[in-house]
Amino acid sequence: MAKQVWIDCDPGLDDAIALMVLASRPDAFSLRGITTAAGNQTGEKTFRNARRIGAYLGLQAPVARGADRPLRRPPLTAGDVHGEDGLAGMRAGNSLLPGDPRPAAEFLCDSLTAAEEPAVLIATGPLTNLAELFAREPGVKEKIDHITIMGGSLSGGNVTPYAEFNFCADPDAAQAVLCAGVPIHLLGLDVTHQAYLADEEIRAFGGLGTKHGGMVGDLMAFYAASYKKTGLPGTPVHDASAVLYEAEPSLFPGAEALSLEVVTSGERIGECVRKPGGPPNVRWVTSVRRAEFVEALFSCCR
Ligand code: BDR
Ligand code: CA
Repeated sequence: MAKQVWIDCDPGLDDAIALMVLASRPDAFSLRGITTAAGNQTGEKTFRNARRIGAYLGLQAPVARGADRPLRRPPLTAGDVHGEDGLAGMRAGNSLLPGDPRPAAEFLCDSLTAAEEPAVLIATGPLTNLAELFAREPGVKEKIDHITIMGGSLSGGNVTPYAEFNFCADPDAAQAVLCAGVPIHLLGLDVTHQAYLADEEIRAFGGLGTKHGGMVGDLMAFYAASYKKTGLPGTPVHDASAVLYEAEPSLFPGAEALSLEVVTSGERIGECVRKPGGPPNVRWVTSVRRAEFVEALFSCCR
């Protein structure tokens, strides 16, 4: 049965691919709402990008704009990686899904409160909106079955030597959400760096000759330019991994129950660390069957 899902995102190249996976799997997902935060680009751009990509993909869900800046830090964006518009100049038409007038936290509060089934939240950007939601209405946690988050790392960062982008952009929000008492499935760099596309696979997506294939091919080719210097064997599809994890958990066989928190000050700000002796608060996903993962992504594009 299709899960009722909400996605909180900051599109962003791989966020756009995450939305594509949602659009391709009506068997797995009933999308109830999209919320956006500043992250890969400014709040204005990520909101517009979500509405534009959503319309291009034929999604039918309200889009609510959330935080334009992190809880307590200056904004951190990534236009060097995702392009000046946040979507690598993608040609996606000019149609926009309508925006919801409510701020993201208010929209989430209202729509989760009204939900008739346990809700699944997927978060692929800085966690500012979710932290604001839980501060505003803690009771809404009872409506959430779990949150699947792309963020964090236990093996070094991609923004600093210690911190992954989403947790580094708003470490206070990441810490608040990890400690909120809601079941959390966390896909950090440790697993998303295994969920990569090699250059020839990226070209093969373009070669499919389909709308979704062209989109993945173009966005990932742009993304790949930033990954050339990393020494990774390919280009990770970070955010789409979180959506495919929800659709096909068996693609991700390894996981540990861990007690994790996020460093909120100092040189190691944004780092994910184990809390010795703490009760587990996170299902930390550790591995992916890469060949099957790539095939599942191809299937979304045929
Ligand atoms: C995460 O940071 C962003 O740049 C990507 O969209 C992804 O959510 C990877 O660290
Ligand atoms: Ca993202």
